[in-house]
Order: sequence, then structure tokens, then C-alpha cells
Amino acid sequence: MSRVIVLKKKIKKFDKQIKIPGDKSLSIRWILFSSLASGVSKSKNLLISGDTLAAINVIKKLGIKVVLNKKFCKIYGKGMDGYKYKDNMSLDAKNSGTLGRLLLGLIINSTKKIKLLGDSSLSKRDFKRVTNPLSRFGASFKMRNKGLPLIMKGSINLKPIKYIEKKGSAQCKSSIIFAGMRTDGKTIIKAKKSRSHTEILCKYLKLPLKVRSKKNFDLIEINKVKKINPLNYDIPSDISSASFFLALTALSDDSKILIKNVNINPNRIGIVSIFRKMGITINFKNKRIYKGEKIADIFTSSPKIIRPINCPINLNSSAIDEFLIIFLTVAAKANGVSYFKNLSELNQKESPRLKWAEKILKMMGIKTITTADSIKIFGNPNLRIKKKIVIKNYLKDHRVFMASVIAALSFENKKGWYIYDKDSIKTSFPNFLSIVNMLNDER
Ligand code: S3P
Repeated sequence: MSRVIVLKKKIKKFDKQIKIPGDKSLSIRWILFSSLASGVSKSKNLLISGDTLAAINVIKKLGIKVVLNKKFCKIYGKGMDGYKYKDNMSLDAKNSGTLGRLLLGLIINSTKKIKLLGDSSLSKRDFKRVTNPLSRFGASFKMRNKGLPLIMKGSINLKPIKYIEKKGSAQCKSSIIFAGMRTDGKTIIKAKKSRSHTEILCKYLKLPLKVRSKKNFDLIEINKVKKINPLNYDIPSDISSASFFLALTALSDDSKILIKNVNINPNRIGIVSIFRKMGITINFKNKRIYKGEKIADIFTSSPKIIRPINCPINLNSSAIDEFLIIFLTVAAKANGVSYFKNLSELNQKESPRLKWAEKILKMMGIKTITTADSIKIFGNPNLRIKKKIVIKNYLKDHRVFMASVIAALSFENKKGWYIYDKDSIKTSFPNFLSIVNMLNDER
């Protein structure tokens, strides 16, 4: 099978209802919580992708039985002390920062050395953000530079910590929460706002966690967890995956889309606020709460014009995975200059995404002014692309591939968009191209 996809035509108008796979953040968290539960947990609509399969393989290696049958999964948790740590054990987080970082908090009670590995993209990413706080609990680390591979030796005499999390990283916050569950005292985190799935699951499971929500940060307290009850979970769809189709609709002529049963955690819907500020109507229908998480069907339709945005920095964390698609579509098409700032975290993702946005926009013929943490995008509603565009060697970052495909379907290029490494979608959204093809169907 060819790894490259070639696109030359703009998508035709569509009016469809679609279903997106299960949320990646929730799927990984369900797998990890269930592995510590006392008894059998079941899930429906679990995301089956590179990142979640890596999580399943890790807990299996730690001695936890998993039965996976399509999107149904059963995990036979063995309680808080149920992991089997072996000599010379190595665990592979593959491409997943969420798995790698959360896992270190979970296995911090291992007195045996554990090696944590990742693929070439994950090995370039910062792990100091979790090894620093985890060292203060009593773990020790050996690492080259600031990333993977690393070796951790945990402890059974962990001390609670007080920590200020300034990046707005849910992975960092969650790793500390998991470690805090294994100490005898109270761990306190002052965390810049970020996705709150871990806290919501803790509350639903009645674990000893308290959150006091302030304007720009949360104060989180976590005490020792003795037992986690099994958790049956019907995983809602992923807004980060849905966002590609919200953007495609915004750039298509006279189109409409309804995306069913999407998780709209308030710390994940920055893209909705950004789209609305840019003049795109987005409606949440059938809003409901499922096990503490907000869920809705999301409706959008093509706007007449797209306005530029001076993006408020308080939306950064809640749109962190969506900026690339925002830059390559709505910001590129807006009738003016859009400005996004304080975004150094974007270069800490599966690839340096701010740099990739700049490169791709340049190939498209869109002017940008980019710094280490900001981008100004000179949108052009009448853009005509005149040159062949080739996207490759981007560390197989799934979101670079998918955002490029959506840009290609939105900005016609007779010379063609050549987008390599289509296997990268397996990380988070294996049926992405089937949904694209369904929308693009000749009628
Ligand atoms: C995630 C948190 C975010 C996000 C990632 C998933 C999570 O990363 O980009 O895709 O599930 O906790 P950071 O915590 O590094 O911001």
C-alpha cells in the first residue's frame, strides 16, 4: 500500500451525520484506572489505536489480564498493589506522551528499576516535567538529556508533595495525581487549568480527591487511595478528532455536519470558542452528563466569511491539540491577520507543530510571522495555490497528516498535495480517511 496520499480537488458540498472514534485521553485513562481497580471493568467504544494499544500492552506486561473484542474491552484489575514488577523490566509508551507520563506516576511504587521507552518522536519530548515532581515523591531517575529512554526506581516510602504546575499540562498534573494516590499524606497541586478527565474520574470513583477551582488555576488535593472500584465506561467521541471535520465544514461551500456523542469537557472546547469568535456557528445539541463528563452532539455549517482572531491566551490549553488544524484552515482562510501567542507548548508535541504550521502555510502561499512561541497568520479568503505541495519527514505526527489532508480538501491545488506517511493516523484516528471518503462520495 502506498504511504502517500495525493489530493488535487476541493471536497464537494456535504450534509452528513458522522460518528468519531472514542476519546483518546479518556480511553488511556480508563485503561490505567481499570488496571488498578479491584475487579473487572468493561468499556464500550474504546479507541483502538496505536496509543491505546500501547497502553493495553503496558498493563499486560505489568501482569494485568485484558480481553479485547473489537471496541469492547474487559480489564481484570488486581487492586492498587496488583502490578508485577520484574527485574530488568522495560515498558514501551510508543508514540504516546500521555501514556509515558501518566505511567511514571502509576508505577512509582516499584522498588525494581523500570526502563521506559518510546518511539523516535516520543524520545525527543520533555520528560523532566514529570521526573522533577516525581523525584520529590522519592523516585530516582537516570536519563540522557531530558527525555526517553529513562530508568526509574520508585519507592514504597513515598512522601506527599506540594507542586505548582505552570504549563497547563494535564499529563503532568495527572502523573502527580497518580503518584499522590500512593503516599500516606496529602499531595497538593496548584495547576494551571487543563483537561480535567483524571479529576472527574477520581470524583466519579469516589476517590479522596478535592478540587477547588479558581479563575486561572485549580487547587487539587489527593490522599492515599486504598481501593478503586471497577468502572464500566461507554467512551464518548474525541473532540480533537471531531475538530478536523468541524474545520472541513467551515471551509467547504454550503455544507453541514452533525457529529454525535462528543466529549465536551470545558477544558477541551477551546476550538469551539475560537471558531465562534471567527464567525463560525457551532451548536451543542442534546447536552448531557455522562459519569461526570459533559457530552453533546456538535452541529456546524459553512459560514459566509471567516473573521481573523487575536486569540486570547486563556484558550491555549483547551485548544492545544487543535491549533494546527485551526492555523491551516480557518486562520489561512480568514479575511485578515490572526495572532496566536504564548504557545511554546505546541513545539513540545509529537512534532514541533508551530514550526510545521509555518512550513505548510508557507508552501500554501500564506504569509506568517513566527517566533518561538507565537504565530501571525495573514489569512487570504481568495487563496489560489500554484505549486505542488509535499508534506513529509514530520516524525509521523498524526495531527500533521490529518490537518494537511483537511487543508488539501479545502484549498484546491491542481499541482497536487502529496502527503506522506498515511499510517500516522493509526496513532489516534485509524478510520480518518474512511470518514473523509464517505463525505467526499460522488452523489
Ligand atoms: C493530554 C494532554 C495534552 C494533550 C495530549 C493529551 C492528556 O498534553 O496535548 O494530546 O490526555 O492528558 P499536555 O499535558 O502535554 O498539554
